[in-house]
Amino acid sequence: MICKNLSVNSEGHLCFAGVDTVSLVKKHGTPLYLMDEERIRECCRVYVDAMRDAFGEDALPLYASKAASFKQMYRIINEEGMGTDLVSSGELYTAASVGFPLKKAYFHSNNKTDADIAYAIDSGVGYFVVDNVEELDSIDAIAKGKGVKQKILLRLTPGIDPHTYEAVATGKVDSKFGSAIETGQAEQIAKYACELENIKLCGFHCHVGSQVFDSDVFLRASEIMLDFIALMQKKYGFITLELDLGGGYGARYLESDPKIDIAANIHEVASHMKAYCQRLGISLPAIRMEPGRSIVADAGMTLYTAGTVKRIPGYKNYVSVDGGMADNPRYALYKSSYTVCLANRMTSTSPTFSCTIAGRCCESGDLIQENVTLPADITRGDVIAVLTTGAYNYSMSSNYNRLPKPPVVMIKDGEDYIAVKRESLADVCKNDI
Ligand code: LLP
Repeated sequence: MICKNLSVNSEGHLCFAGVDTVSLVKKHGTPLYLMDEERIRECCRVYVDAMRDAFGEDALPLYASKAASFKQMYRIINEEGMGTDLVSSGELYTAASVGFPLKKAYFHSNNKTDADIAYAIDSGVGYFVVDNVEELDSIDAIAKGKGVKQKILLRLTPGIDPHTYEAVATGKVDSKFGSAIETGQAEQIAKYACELENIKLCGFHCHVGSQVFDSDVFLRASEIMLDFIALMQKKYGFITLELDLGGGYGARYLESDPKIDIAANIHEVASHMKAYCQRLGISLPAIRMEPGRSIVADAGMTLYTAGTVKRIPGYKNYVSVDGGMADNPRYALYKSSYTVCLANRMTSTSPTFSCTIAGRCCESGDLIQENVTLPADITRGDVIAVLTTGAYNYSMSSNYNRLPKPPVVMIKDGEDYIAVKRESLADVCKNDI
């Protein structure tokens, strides 16, 4: 099994965090997002402990809440001592509504509106991660009006290709994010930020890519960022207090995906950076990282009920489920891999039926996974589990075709509780006039 929170019980049912998924389906219906609270906490602790050990007491992991943003997530990561990376007023509002200490919140986005900026300053957000000059000017002006000196980091692009899929490669020079070091724009914006009265430039940020399985990108990016930090010190006497390396460590969607020891990788990055700082004659700034996927991905799964089983002789087979791209758009967007299994009959028959798992939305691209092998007698009413859906599934879900969003049910100590309620049919038109 790809994660240790998965097992099979004597009835041949898939268990998640020790709980029978078939009984959860009976209780909560499908489609159903499940999340394993203990696994989330365990993943948080890996970062909190490894970063503190490797980089020192002033290091802090920030949970990239775009991976899964709802109130209970912010409660959990706060209890685990993490900060957070937020990318919208909506995420900020969600965090604030459960009393998340916003001084540990870093507000991202390549295009914050004036309303976002004013709202975030009023909320007492700790840091803006500033993308561009227009944003810098706007924060300076709004902060001035409010009598605030706003702490910021500047988002820079180190010009690295992480060799992951294009949609998540963000650190290249031609990226829509940040200011490029290579073109000199990073130096210009940093110099300019230092001149603004209502801004306190605390340091720099980069994020190179997502779903990476070793530290290669972090090692390369950190060298480029430290070179830049050394240049800022030499040329302008600017001392960088914080360096945020972004997120990116991957999750295993398939048995064939590599295993990754995140703590060991963090230690490797830290010792490399310490040695590099020594060479440059600078001190190591306080380090931030922004893990999203690796905190929640394998702490989640989605359960569906199988509907139509369509055999097209000589062509292909489809098993349609009662969800689809509205609750998981990742295959339609990125052709993302998933492990799929028959949760109510894990042991009964050997899987020989090759099929495509299709959603219920009204377009042919609405697929969850192709080339899946399931038992040949799969039939309407069987329970289908799609594993490793904790990251970027609920958070990217939509009401396409006016499908109500599934609930998020958390498992803790063998008990289940609802973290996000299932939407009703009335909910899908609640804002219609
Ligand atoms: N920090 C920044 C600035 C980011 O842009 C991201 C992800 C992260 C941190 C977290 O990266 P992670 O640790 O999760 O790899 N929707 C896509 C993923 C988009 C990631 C965008 N940025 C997916 O479903 O694969």
